[in-house]
Amino acid sequence: MKASRLKIVSFFIAAFIVTLLLTSCESTGKMEGAEKEIARKVDSVLSLMTLEEKVGQLMQYSGFGEFTGPVSDDHNYMEVLKNGMVGSMLNVNGAEYTRKLQQVAVEETRLGIPLIFGYDIIHGYRTIFPVPLAETASWDMELIETSARVAAAEAAAAGQHWTFAPMVDIARDPRWGRVMEGAGEDPFLGSLVAASRVKGFQGNDLADHSTIVACAKHFAAYGAAMAGKDYNTVDISNRTLHEIYLPPFKAALDAGVETFMSSFNEINGVPATANRYILTDLLKKEWNFKGFIVSDWSSIRELIPHGVATNEYEAGYLAMNAGVDMDMMGLIYDPQLFQLMDDGKVSQSQLDDAVRRILRVKFKLGLFDDPYRYCNEEREKEVIMNEEHLEIARDVARKSIVLLKNENNLLPLDPDKIKTIALVGPMADNQFDMIGEWSARGNPAEAISLLEGLKNSLEGKAQIVHAKGCQITGEDKSGFSEAIRAARAADVVVAAVGESKFMSGEALCRSDIGLPGVQKEFIMELQKTGKPIIVVLMNGRPLAIPWVKENVPAILETWFLGTQAGPAIADVLLGKYNPSGKLPVTFPVSVGQVPIFYSYKNTGRPPIPGIRWNSKYLDIPVEPLFPFGYGLSYTTFEYSEITLSDTILLPGGELTAEVTVKNTGVRDGEEIIQLYIRDLVGSVTRPVLELKGFRKESIPAGESVTVLFTITEEDLKFYDINMEFTAEPGDFEVFIGPNSVELKKAKFTFME
Ligand code: NOJ
Repeated sequence: MKASRLKIVSFFIAAFIVTLLLTSCESTGKMEGAEKEIARKVDSVLSLMTLEEKVGQLMQYSGFGEFTGPVSDDHNYMEVLKNGMVGSMLNVNGAEYTRKLQQVAVEETRLGIPLIFGYDIIHGYRTIFPVPLAETASWDMELIETSARVAAAEAAAAGQHWTFAPMVDIARDPRWGRVMEGAGEDPFLGSLVAASRVKGFQGNDLADHSTIVACAKHFAAYGAAMAGKDYNTVDISNRTLHEIYLPPFKAALDAGVETFMSSFNEINGVPATANRYILTDLLKKEWNFKGFIVSDWSSIRELIPHGVATNEYEAGYLAMNAGVDMDMMGLIYDPQLFQLMDDGKVSQSQLDDAVRRILRVKFKLGLFDDPYRYCNEEREKEVIMNEEHLEIARDVARKSIVLLKNENNLLPLDPDKIKTIALVGPMADNQFDMIGEWSARGNPAEAISLLEGLKNSLEGKAQIVHAKGCQITGEDKSGFSEAIRAARAADVVVAAVGESKFMSGEALCRSDIGLPGVQKEFIMELQKTGKPIIVVLMNGRPLAIPWVKENVPAILETWFLGTQAGPAIADVLLGKYNPSGKLPVTFPVSVGQVPIFYSYKNTGRPPIPGIRWNSKYLDIPVEPLFPFGYGLSYTTFEYSEITLSDTILLPGGELTAEVTVKNTGVRDGEEIIQLYIRDLVGSVTRPVLELKGFRKESIPAGESVTVLFTITEEDLKFYDINMEFTAEPGDFEVFIGPNSVELKKAKFTFME
């Protein structure tokens, strides 16, 4: 470029940057101004409030009819509501009903402070999306954000203000029932997903009538429950806590999340709900969180059985002093706070701080301007389950599917060649289970089963013979023979098997993570017919199914895909959509390997097959059944070696790692290209691999894309021997590939 042109270009770039800076200063300034204005309004409301009204703001009650936890008292919430002693309600639904309750709060109490309604909108409100673990398998952040945006729009139209989502707990134990509610095992991927969900729910303006407040839960380390048993003890190192479990919470915060939920578990002896370090020192002070913290359902009361409080009074004292602002169904703050304040155990400023935080969010939602803005029956009718939402749900569902095996390209099925399909198994015509647990107002009757989806998609081209064969659980094999007859008469067998909806979710843990009931035997019998079998899995956690992997030619992991599961699975089975999902969590060979995750430490004696004295099992392999990041396509991709821009990285500098990925098949496809890093020697041991980047690329058949990753010092940072978050000089390996096992490798050195 000539010098004069270069100057002009530089001038424009500089001008652009200055404009950008000015605009961003302006918008930061505007935001600060808005916050100040809200703080002023909050203070003016606060100055009018009695002690009772303040305590009331900290109380959250569940509506009757839908309890999402144990009920310790038959509290008449209508009475307390009329007395102005309720700040929030959960589990109350619909524009009409929320309006009625809001009317009581606004029109019948002294100050008329509006309620904030909260609900578990985990993967959709009425249009149900894939469970969060499934959506994560898409590795598509825009898609995940869109799904949360749709959920928010539907929920907001039905009077909801606040979702208890996203659950951002890292989960490395598939026995734990709540694996399905989160983003899997990896903190890097989990952090991106956390941020996308928060942005989707909250949008850019909480006062918009299609956005709702998000809640990062369960703070913290809830997913590290011992033995994968819900609510169980968590005993982890400070390093693991900070490196693995906290990053998704920080990412949610950075994305603007306005509420946090304290978790049920203890962390190294201190229950999270009484944990001042976690809630106040870290979250409110170090991270500067301005929103409010809600307890989990009765987790303040549970400080008593935890054994850190003798009675309700002490439980209230511990939770309040730890920093819990709102009491969800613990029924502790009211009445204990009155005595605690009298005794000087809780100060006026502590109480005011909690009330301020809650009022601030209510102001941000615009509830003081119009408390009924979210209860709009007409919008509810228009928005809920509209065509656009169903289309999006179908797209998200098919992008969440992971193809685990496809011997001899059995899939996709060609309806022009196949005359009869035997569709068998307890999940084949099962609207109820396939929408998954935590399905809010999702109505199974509105979901499209695989049977219906396949029928619609085949448009009469091939015949489907359906036979259930067996139940999900139990020993009954009486249906086998009908299904086997159907299989014998068919060209191909699609066996839809899996877990029931109530096998994953809260308090729904399993010790055996194989296929429940007689489903494995069922597949074994089908196998004897000699017909090609496609196993379609529907489940909420990684399953240990080595026999199926070994013996069945094609396996499709479809998780719980929600309302549009049937059409989405049909799209993939029939090749209308080429599967692109990759596992966000490792599948073990057997529960004996658990916890198993790709980012393990090498140990001093890494496994060597056939030799004693090293880290392995006698009876099972150390390798997983399916590794993290794994997933096939109907096409194939070939990776070039990695080209590094340099072999030296300096502080403040950057390196690029480049690969070319070629679609070597005959179909267009999407590939998720993953980048991992290994720090070879550190002041503390480092994992053998850490995900640090990925790209999802559409690659037409026969074509290639070149992908460039930038690596900086930031990507190398970890908590060193002194718990300083830093990058240490030394040698690093960089890996790029289609999953966490099949990787190309290059090396570089970080120099100070
Ligand atoms: C308990 C669960 O742990 C939490 O995730 C949920 O949001 C609350 N109950 C409210 O239903």
